[in-house]
Amino acid sequence: MLAVVNCSQLVTLRGAARPRVGAEMRELSIIEDGAMLVGDDGRIAAAGARSEVEPLIAGDCEVLDAGRRVCLPGFVDAHAHPVFAGTRAGEFEQRAAGATYQEIAAAGGGIRASVRATRAATEDKLVSASKRYAGWLLRGGTTTVEAKSGYGLSVADELKMLRAVRRLNAETPLQYVPTFLGAHEVPDEYRARRADYVELVIEEMLPRVAEEGLAEFCDVFCEAYVFDVDDSRRILSAARTHNLGLRLHADQLSLSGGARLAAELGATTADHLEHTDAAGIAALKSAGVQPVLLPGSVYALGSSRYPAARAMIEAGLAVVIATDFNPGSSPTPSMPLVLSLASTHMRMTPAEAITAATVNAAYSLGRGRETGSLDAGKRADFCLHDCADYRELAYFFGVEHAHAVYVGGRLAFRRGN
Ligand code: NIG
Ligand code: FE
Repeated sequence: MLAVVNCSQLVTLRGAARPRVGAEMRELSIIEDGAMLVGDDGRIAAAGARSEVEPLIAGDCEVLDAGRRVCLPGFVDAHAHPVFAGTRAGEFEQRAAGATYQEIAAAGGGIRASVRATRAATEDKLVSASKRYAGWLLRGGTTTVEAKSGYGLSVADELKMLRAVRRLNAETPLQYVPTFLGAHEVPDEYRARRADYVELVIEEMLPRVAEEGLAEFCDVFCEAYVFDVDDSRRILSAARTHNLGLRLHADQLSLSGGARLAAELGATTADHLEHTDAAGIAALKSAGVQPVLLPGSVYALGSSRYPAARAMIEAGLAVVIATDFNPGSSPTPSMPLVLSLASTHMRMTPAEAITAATVNAAYSLGRGRETGSLDAGKRADFCLHDCADYRELAYFFGVEHAHAVYVGGRLAFRRGN
């Protein structure tokens, strides 16, 4: 048994067992001077005021003194590409000199550059390269992360990526949720025959991924110059027949109809949404699709077109924010940075941002009953941050706030002296 005592704020996010909308996003259910008890099963046994929890502490219980720090649920990063080989620092330099993301992609770089590096890596190499990023995610306070494939783009290399995710899940404390993104880009050898690549995704990749149980979701990069709405509809409809949940890179670089398609298909999430209009927001609302907003990619691409988070919250959407961690458009694994961007550029309050980064994110990954809030019965995924007021997480940016991170009640990261 583990007791966590002396938290300045225990930010529980306790509430209805569903994603939070509207004014609920500002209700964090904070317990001042809170404490928490974790059972030997790694689950939260009790969370409440010190006076309620302390009497429950029994004999050989380990006591963790939070030292008046904030205790938060672990962040759930619901849109990430954390498995890849190589980096794209050279492209970063080219963009600094004026080239655009799309120009670099059209010239054979971008996603296809990461595909070449990832294809060249063995599964072992891919796992070890990605462990570096697992460490970064954990030290930022993230305990659950989505992991998309999409840098393989052949049957063998997509399976290799998803098997690497399975190993990372077993070999690191981080909890990975695997998503098949075979339709991330058209690979070099299919440039002139995109339709054949769509067939390959539908007829060969999806059945293999489903057969081996390697993914829970299927995602598509829906954009006129990559996979248009018709391609995306075909791929996602096929994915549904394999019982995969649906996610969609939608309206990132243009108003391509991705949000409307997500609504039409009843997808779990529609992600990015920088160009989504009012009709798209209304469609997401009526279909109950969760928007996943990725301000790190807007920032890192040097754009100022952030998604309309306020309009989405006001429309009653259960907004999620995530890093989009990847080697191209969003090379940050930091959820605290995303909280800062959400408040400074999307006018989300710090409380709304935290709801979007924890409980709402967990529901969007099908993990709402397991993690995302400090409720009795959930897995004890939590982080002590080095501040006494949760708002400092978004306010002081560029700071590594996480002091100690626990997954399933076990220490996964602790800041050294
Ligand atoms: O979410 N938009 C497509 N996929 C990623 C970019 C991946 C990459 O550049 O490697 C994104 O921004
Ligand atoms: Fe992405």
